[in-house]
Amino acid sequence: MQNIQSYITQHKKRFLNELIELLKIPSVSADSAYKNDVIKTADEVATSLKDSGCDIVEICETEGYPIIYAEKTIDENLPTVLVYGHYDVQPADPMELWDSDPFAPVIKNTELHPDGAIFARGACDDKGQMYMHVKAMEFMTSTGQLPCNVKFMIEGEEEVGSVNLSKFVKENQEKLSNDVILISDTGMIANDVPSITTGLRGLSYVEVEVTGPNRDLHSGLYGGAVANPINILTKMIASLHDENNHITIPGFYDNVEELSIEERAEMAKAPFSLENYKKALDIDAVYGEEGYTTNERNSIRPTLDVNGIWGGYIGEGAKTVIASKAYAKISMRLVPNQDWERITELFKTHFESIAPQGVTIKVNPHHGGQGYVTPINSIGYQAASKAYQETFGKTPIPQRSGGSIPIVSLFEQELKSKTILMGFGLDSDAIHSPNEHFGVWNYLKGIETIPYFYKHFTELHK
Ligand code: BES
Ligand code: MN
Ligand code: MN
Repeated sequence: MQNIQSYITQHKKRFLNELIELLKIPSVSADSAYKNDVIKTADEVATSLKDSGCDIVEICETEGYPIIYAEKTIDENLPTVLVYGHYDVQPADPMELWDSDPFAPVIKNTELHPDGAIFARGACDDKGQMYMHVKAMEFMTSTGQLPCNVKFMIEGEEEVGSVNLSKFVKENQEKLSNDVILISDTGMIANDVPSITTGLRGLSYVEVEVTGPNRDLHSGLYGGAVANPINILTKMIASLHDENNHITIPGFYDNVEELSIEERAEMAKAPFSLENYKKALDIDAVYGEEGYTTNERNSIRPTLDVNGIWGGYIGEGAKTVIASKAYAKISMRLVPNQDWERITELFKTHFESIAPQGVTIKVNPHHGGQGYVTPINSIGYQAASKAYQETFGKTPIPQRSGGSIPIVSLFEQELKSKTILMGFGLDSDAIHSPNEHFGVWNYLKGIETIPYFYKHFTELHK
């Protein structure tokens, strides 16, 4: 019977070419100009799942983009793994910062990817990582080594909040029943330091609007005499952190889970070089909440960040004007036990309360989601750990990530099963940024590791 290593060697070229074809389709869910491309990508994903040996493949229409559902049941008495991933991608702009066309994938070597990396929007997040599962499935079915039942649920709206997927999950609990959920949509510490993601942060995203006078004003005639919405907005935003970089919204930290000294000591064991971290970002110092390390700040602590701010004149030259309005988009990353809807409410109440007279405030909540932590003593985690031991020759380190996949907590709530986050990307792969890429080595390592997860999960499940 052929093993996965030799199967990869034999089919490596095709595995890369198929992914490259998928990456050529600009499946940007946020921008309706790409609607046909998103739908085309859904069709391609469905075809690839058929080709990988799934018996049932359905394109499930929603009010938004379709969800691809597929399954292969070999024996009702065996456990079922549900694979989740997304085929939509973030917008590629700013286009001018890409060294190559985001939808014309090229393979180039980098310092961290000496075997080459595929440069394209979605290479790592999440087409490349999602497709590893399709190819692992192909290996298992075509060589008669699928040890359990499998379901796939691949959506096209992750990057815009998974609203229709939430509905789909709530309405299809029976169809989606499973023993474990497997996702590759996160990262790992380094290619020689494998890690499994055990936590995700929650998210509350709001947009704020500050309105002053009813029209833009001459900044000489009116300057100094009326509230300038941009001055006010920036002052209000600045007040959301204190001198120690704690967030000042009353009640914000109420339910924050505090880690024990032991847990923090365990976290601190993960290899990390502050020097390399700063060097990779061209910064001379890190910055953040007093009393916490960089790795704590970006994973177990909640944050508040302005994601965009605008208003007034930003064209060439100078225009002496006081704008009527100023705007900002703000994201808050949350940790387990912080409820995103409550945090959104607290933000709104506080932000409105700190507005001075002379302006009016609007707070418009966007999407959000809860954080997630998964225990390391579950059989799912143990199976993943064993799988990495087989293919990396090392025990993976559990690591909490700062990113968010809001649907994961809904999975637990509705489907009552744990999610295992086997991510193979690196933080430096530039997801959501220009020049996103995914290591060829990482792509193939993922394909190699996944079948071992199935094997160990099935064995441990007995
Ligand atoms: N795959 C990412 C999340 C991620 C990346 C988690 C790396 C951990 C490590 C996902 O596609 C994503 O971008 N999520 C969004 C939230 C979503 C509601 C738009 C995020 O984290 O900003
Ligand atoms: Mn993703
Ligand atoms: Mn993403």
